[in-house]
Amino acid sequence: MVTPITGCWIDGTFGAGGYSRALLQNGACQVIAIDKDPTTKVFLHSIQNEYGDMIKFYNQSYADMEKNDDIAGRDDICGVVLDLGVSSMHLDNPLRGFSFRESGPLDMRMGDQPGPTAFEIINLCSETTLADLIFFYGQERKARKIANRIVKERKKRKINTTLELAEIVRAIVSKNSNKDPATRTFQAIRIAVNNELRDLSKALIFAERIVKKGGIIAIVTFHSLEDKMVKDFGKLMSGNASTTNRYSPPSSKTYPSLIPVNKKPVVAAIDEIDRNKRARSAKLRVFTKVSNGPSRVLEKIEFPEVDLGI
Ligand SMILES: C[S@@+](CC[C@H](N)C(=O)[O-])C[C@H]1O[C@@H](n2cnc3c(N)ncnc32)[C@H](O)[C@@H]1O
Repeated sequence: MVTPITGCWIDGTFGAGGYSRALLQNGACQVIAIDKDPTTKVFLHSIQNEYGDMIKFYNQSYADMEKNDDIAGRDDICGVVLDLGVSSMHLDNPLRGFSFRESGPLDMRMGDQPGPTAFEIINLCSETTLADLIFFYGQERKARKIANRIVKERKKRKINTTLELAEIVRAIVSKNSNKDPATRTFQAIRIAVNNELRDLSKALIFAERIVKKGGIIAIVTFHSLEDKMVKDFGKLMSGNASTTNRYSPPSSKTYPSLIPVNKKPVVAAIDEIDRNKRARSAKLRVFTKVSNGPSRVLEKIEFPEVDLGI
């Protein structure tokens, strides 16, 4: 059973503030809200009008939580929530470059980091890098063909817009479900632009250290790469992970630091999916911290890493 919400929580993906508001409405005394995207700050004011300085906002990456003076060194953090990925504000504004439905510049940066942008990746990365990236981050079987076509097209002229990229992919991947054929390729490029897997790895490791005994870590993922990382992390921290390689020495005995609240991830009910289509791919995993220290010191969670080479 999950303990009631109390004390100080970190909402690492503030977005439009829905989770922060819900935490305050349900018993949190303080919320430290973080978002990489500075434009999300507009949603802070209405929450502040109601809750005053019970909410604080920081425009930073959740990967850098440990550098936040309001968080570092605290021993009273009761929970960390991460609702990963892009928001509808990103998808619905073609100028941000995430949409394959409407034309926009190939950008895809969630924050105001200098780059690389999607344009730079698509127009400058080698064919092999593009193929690896689309294969590993997009889990797209036709990655090599797509990369080859991108390189052929960009020899004729620069690929400038989201629709140009989407058309290249649609010429190769046939539509066989209710997903646009460009979905996986766009996911791959977005993950690369925003360093999403590296950031998630850092955030999970830090969240496990900062949350106090009895506290909660709740993560909502939207694709299987993220979900696998969260699941593997939970296994390692619950002391249940088997050795990754049968030739490696057995791991030393570890004590659980996190235990999963649910055996299986929580998924959205049909009526929620009717209201919000994005929820159909959402998976929620919740862990409770059961010790004062980590079960093992993790430097990094394994994930496929593609060097952009640009
Ligand atoms: C799915 S939305 C969150 C929606 C939010 N839970 C709500 O109730 O409105 C994800 C948010 O996380 C932010 N984000 C993505 N990666 C981030 C990172 N590394 N650090 C901080 N924020 C990030 C995005 O800018 C976006 O606003």
